[in-house]
Amino acid sequence: MDRRNFLALGGLAAMQAAKAASPASAGTGTGAATASRAIAAAGQPITRRIPSSGEMLPAIGLGTSGPFEAGADEKSRAPLREVLRAFFDAGATLIDTSPMYSTAEAVLGDLLTAEQQSRAFIATKVWTPGSGAAAEQKGVEQMQRSMALLKHGPIDLMQVHNLVDLDAHLKTLHRWKEERRIRYLGVTHYTTSSYPDLMAVIEREKLDFVQFNYSVITREAEKRLLPLCADRGVAVLINRAFEDGNLFSRVEGRPLPPWAAEFGAQSWAQVFLKFVLAHPAVTCVIPATGKVRNLLDNLGAGIGALPDAKQRAQIVASLG
Ligand SMILES: NC(=O)c1ccc[n+]([C@@H]2O[C@H](COP(=O)([O-])OP(=O)(O)OC[C@H]3O[C@@H](n4cnc5c(N)ncnc54)[C@H](OP(=O)(O)O)[C@@H]3O)[C@@H](O)[C@H]2O)c1
Repeated sequence: MDRRNFLALGGLAAMQAAKAASPASAGTGTGAATASRAIAAAGQPITRRIPSSGEMLPAIGLGTSGPFEAGADEKSRAPLREVLRAFFDAGATLIDTSPMYSTAEAVLGDLLTAEQQSRAFIATKVWTPGSGAAAEQKGVEQMQRSMALLKHGPIDLMQVHNLVDLDAHLKTLHRWKEERRIRYLGVTHYTTSSYPDLMAVIEREKLDFVQFNYSVITREAEKRLLPLCADRGVAVLINRAFEDGNLFSRVEGRPLPPWAAEFGAQSWAQVFLKFVLAHPAVTCVIPATGKVRNLLDNLGAGIGALPDAKQRAQIVASLG
């Protein structure tokens, strides 16, 4: 199918074509490139505005915990190179990583091409457990190392990982932002028990981003945290939208309900991601994967319609 015909198909049909293009060849460079360009051609990826700057971000990003913690051998790196190629071909940009994820920063720095680096929005973190009074200096050294490993400067977003040594690092991050060594600053966590602490930081600090967990079965953030982020003009990254993959076992063997088609979802992964993106305070969701087929599936969620309130309630009920 050529590009003109593809465009003529329109959003939903084009997504189906992209899906059809992938199964047999999902692991091959050509198949992935065709499918991700097809996704890009199928419609404009949903973008969201970063409140502190007005910059627009594609709403589907990529997490690296797990899949990108690979060795130096070509066998483990080749699939990740394909994932990155498909990701950028489809017009996506935001990749989230951390020095906590063993080799992930080094793998990204090695695999990203110069062209991908120029388009990438790289979010990494500072994480210095057990550093005590030396946390500030350890953080500076760690961030310098991250920049060298990622071969990316300035870092687009530097986050304090799990709020560890928060005050020591925030001081540095505000200074580094002024010095343009980073473009945005933020904090992260991944548990609902951290929400009171996250909200306290959002209330007292000028943050560009906050990252936390939110999914169709973990909706605590809807009560106060997401509304607070919207009120305070803080961009929101969502981790664990698949509950670290566990959501898929909940729907194993269950066909996709017919109502999923009403908001353009072609898979359970797209139902889960579209549910998250339908919250207006969410800027970008960062599902992790090391597989091209799953990446294309996830990117498909960032195109076309999103569920309305009634459809969101239907999704929640179906997982209850
Ligand atoms: N404190 C923090 O700052 C913090 C904490 C947690 C997470 N994070 C960030 O958020 C990212 C995402 O969170 P997460 O990695 O914990 O979990 P997640 O995104 O909820 O789930 C990832 C799992 O889902 C699977 N998967 C992805 N797409 C799929 C698809 N379309 N169909 C079926 N399975 C699919 C992946 O397996 P395959 O590889 O086989 O596709 C992987 O096992 C992390 O990578 C990290 O960057 C940050």
